[in-house]
Amino acid sequence: MTVLGIETSCDECAAAVVKDGKTILSNVVATQIPVHREFSGVVPEIASRKHTEWIYGVVEESLSRAGVAVRDIDGVAATARPGLLGSLLVGLTFAKAFAWARRIPFLACDHILAHLYAAHLCENSPAYPYIGLLVSGGHTIICRVNGFDAMEVLGTTIDDAAGEAFDKIAKRYALGYPGGVHIDEAAKDGDDSIFAFPMPSLRKGEHRYDVSYSGLKTAVVNQLEQFRKKGRAGEVNPSDIAASFQKTAVEILLRALFRASRDSGINVVVSGGGVAANSYLRSRLAERKDIKCVFPPKELCGDNGAMVAGLAYRYFERGDSSPLSADASARVKGFKRRYP
Ligand code: KG4
Ligand code: ZN
Repeated sequence: MTVLGIETSCDECAAAVVKDGKTILSNVVATQIPVHREFSGVVPEIASRKHTEWIYGVVEESLSRAGVAVRDIDGVAATARPGLLGSLLVGLTFAKAFAWARRIPFLACDHILAHLYAAHLCENSPAYPYIGLLVSGGHTIICRVNGFDAMEVLGTTIDDAAGEAFDKIAKRYALGYPGGVHIDEAAKDGDDSIFAFPMPSLRKGEHRYDVSYSGLKTAVVNQLEQFRKKGRAGEVNPSDIAASFQKTAVEILLRALFRASRDSGINVVVSGGGVAANSYLRSRLAERKDIKCVFPPKELCGDNGAMVAGLAYRYFERGDSSPLSADASARVKGFKRRYP
């Protein structure tokens, strides 16, 4: 079964063609990063307008690179939640129209489940259950994943998402936009022992797997202010800040993740989302010989249509599809929180 997957939840206008939930025939990602750079953040109105302008060309390109025609597509899916509402609606409406015109099944996809599915597009797909580590610009979720559509939230961030913290620090230190990839790069030239940033205190009970980034963010921002007040702002090496911040940010994640793995007795961790591309996070997890960690290739960590098409296939295979009345939602929906 050949599925077209469309992703427009934020600032990537993406479409992909995937066969049988596994073989990527094409994966086109048109990024709006240059458009939003001058605002140092995604401007929702501009994002949805650009999606409207680009979606047709992006889908056309995905079909042409896959070497398939419109009539070869057996099912179509688009991200329906969570994300920027105006942006989501563009891809979702396009996919519905495509499905209606071709009389083929349609699926309104969950973005969180799609990110987790990215690891299944590779050889040696991980077996369920596993611990999911979903780290993106909008979400930080540590979860138990029991199946492609069955995920229980163990812990989340209580304030900023991991990627959001990377983006905000990069903006403050003028390291580049979007922040995550620039901090990752800058940190390679930095010394992570120059600044000792605080770790938030460990939480208890039902919040034992939650993480927090606001304290770290404030500490990193204040560091610059302290030097500035003394007229020594020029002495702050942004690469050292990047390395020290990244080390602490990753440590915060890993501490909660390892706890969840130990408590659940599940030693397979599957990561997804833009921050899963982070090289320090990947190397720290690779060091753990007692935990098997599966990362999708970097091009499948950020937003893309292949993960949408792959996940949708699993639903179609089971005979499930969504009605054309399915709506977009800005929020995360439908996941139960599981307490230890
Ligand atoms: O999954 P994604 O493309 O979009 C959302 O669903 O949010 O994730 C984007 C986030 C941004 O915050 C970006 O800065 C971060 O992923 N990111 C990274 C890296 N590459 C992207 N964060 C840390 N290290 C990276 N190498
Ligand atoms: Zn995403």
